[in-house]
Amino acid sequence: MEKREQLYEGKAKKVYATDDPNLVIVDYKDDATAGNGAKKGTIRGKGVVNNKVTNSLMRMLEKEGVPTHFVEELSDRETLVKKVSIVPLEVIVRNVAAGSFTARLGVKEGTRFDQPTLEYSFKDDDLGDPLINHYHALALKAATVEEMKTIDTYAFQVNEVLKNYLRQYNIDLIDFKLEFGRLSDGTIVLADEISPDTCRFWDATTGAHLDKDLFRRDLGGEVEAYQEVMKRLLGE
Ligand code: C5P
Repeated sequence: MEKREQLYEGKAKKVYATDDPNLVIVDYKDDATAGNGAKKGTIRGKGVVNNKVTNSLMRMLEKEGVPTHFVEELSDRETLVKKVSIVPLEVIVRNVAAGSFTARLGVKEGTRFDQPTLEYSFKDDDLGDPLINHYHALALKAATVEEMKTIDTYAFQVNEVLKNYLRQYNIDLIDFKLEFGRLSDGTIVLADEISPDTCRFWDATTGAHLDKDLFRRDLGGEVEAYQEVMKRLLGE
């Protein structure tokens, strides 16, 4: 398998073609942005943490019956994944109020819900990834009715599996964002990443943030927090 031309550069990752049209290489960067690019910086070592943490969680989810794009970890920052066309939705699941939910709805941060919530943002940087509902997603042709059903089912399944899995590492899963993609035959698989960039992880004992909120909110300690997540999950 040979690395070929760069196909795409995003805020936190680059994607390269390979000699296999069905496979691409993701290369994780240390660059960090918040507020749709309004705040820019780097979190030293973040690319390695996000690559390794994502891969270990994707492997675990595959075993639990959630299909993913993961193929093989190639190096500390690079992973071979199945090529997908991304469904232009950010699928967000919440167990505890935080972030935009608290800001928008006036609920106190840390309020635990009786059951998880699910919401979608339409992936469009120029529009600032606006919050949309199920019908908007269909009107925008982001996905079909069948695909939306599959996505919702996987999103709640990922939440149950991940929440229980992280508990053994004393991590409380507050909320997270998922992205899904279509393989060439149309199959929906979990894509993108599952990392401290895309999840809120709180220490289950102290409530300390172990995620990108430290960077977003200028709280400091993000480099150490990312390393701590990797140490807990992978022992490295
Ligand atoms: O900001 P908000 O509270 O809506 O974020 C909910 C979850 O989605 C958080 O875990 C956050 O890390 C994640 N998220 C993300 N990428 C975005 C927006 C939110 O990974 N563009």
